Amino acid sequence: MIRGLGYAGFGSSAIEDWRHFGTNMVGFQAIERGNSLLAFRMDDRKQRVVIDRAMGEGARFFGWEVEDGAALDALAARLEAVGVAVTAEPQALADTRHVRSLISFHDPDGNRLEAFHGAEIDDTPFSPGRSISGFRTGPLGLGHVVLTVENIEPIMAFYTKVLGFGLSDYIEKPFRAYFFHVNPRHHSLALIETGKAGMHHLMVELFSLDDVGQSYDVALAGDRVNVTLGRHTNDLMTSFYARTPSSFMVECGWGGREIEPATWQPVEMHHGPSLWGHDRIWLSEKDRAVAREMRMNAAREGLRAPVQVMEGNYKLMAGTCAWWDGVKGN
Ligand code: FE2
Repeated sequence: MIRGLGYAGFGSSAIEDWRHFGTNMVGFQAIERGNSLLAFRMDDRKQRVVIDRAMGEGARFFGWEVEDGAALDALAARLEAVGVAVTAEPQALADTRHVRSLISFHDPDGNRLEAFHGAEIDDTPFSPGRSISGFRTGPLGLGHVVLTVENIEPIMAFYTKVLGFGLSDYIEKPFRAYFFHVNPRHHSLALIETGKAGMHHLMVELFSLDDVGQSYDVALAGDRVNVTLGRHTNDLMTSFYARTPSSFMVECGWGGREIEPATWQPVEMHHGPSLWGHDRIWLSEKDRAVAREMRMNAAREGLRAPVQVMEGNYKLMAGTCAWWDGVKGN
């Protein structure tokens, strides 16, 4: 039903700061749409992320993509059947979103969700704001969104039972976090139980590890690093998190794994969210200490995973690999 995270929008009056952050740090291409709206491109589409002054600080929406008009109608019927109010949005809003047509509704925490089909393709090539190799989007969607919630269970029930998201895996320590997929991207959505509904971060994935390293340098220079460079245990992403001009973060990542949704079995992850790194300044001192201890444990055990590469961003080294043969042997 839902195929991917197509777009996201955030209310903010800090348009100038966002333009600088989006282009110079993340590598988005900025597109001006009047003095209230700033759009960002990540690929061949007209827009992927929008910052809207008129929406007000903290407001947000997420655009989930379906295949066609029939799939959109089916989703609307399914929502209405369980008592969720659905609005068939007018053509004017579809034009603003640069999609053929969309509906809107809310999740149980009040997040505005939109479902759409027919994203417009731009007639000019993507031109990144900084010299990066590009963003990994296509059938995987734009990346992932992570929301904070008061209680995971009711929100999880809505996304899995009503919208059809699949649970990828979850952690209970050092904080509760549940990860959901709608395509081979390990997660397009995650929920973190902090006791308060809010926006935690938006992840974008780059083709080159060096893109992420250079973004890290830019973020360090601008004093924007909220989570240090590290690697996740579940999606195997090497990433860091930067503070945006709004109250949430953007995660810049590389090397995310793919899963097979049809056969995937959800598991609890016991080593915490990271193989190494990712010191989180947003955690309480107590939880941060627990997270640090879990990483020390991962280091003692030598927890590791192969890098996830794609054609064009790696070069196979000559010679035999005793290390890898040994790892496979174990
Ligand atoms: Fe993330």
